[in-house]
Amino acid sequence: MSEITSSLNGPVEYELQPGKKYSWCQCGRSKTQPFCDQVSHKGTGIEPKDFTVSQTRKVWLCMCKQTKMPPYCDGTHNKLKKN
Ligand code: FES
Repeated sequence: MSEITSSLNGPVEYELQPGKKYSWCQCGRSKTQPFCDQVSHKGTGIEPKDFTVSQTRKVWLCMCKQTKMPPYCDGTHNKLKKN
């Protein structure tokens, strides 16, 4: 398995729509962050996290890729070393 990478330290606010399928980038390599671009994770052994919501929700999506509650920010980014 390749290492998870992300140069972004902190979540992004996003409004999720019910009935829509989302695919959150878990490897950090996607060119369409915070979502999977269906290409960049190939060969890493890291798969995107697919999810849906049942109602419109404003959420904070993790961009550091270290959250324990994917795809949502759980504050872990605050404990990471900053470059
Ligand atoms: S951005 Fe907050 S836990 Fe990853």
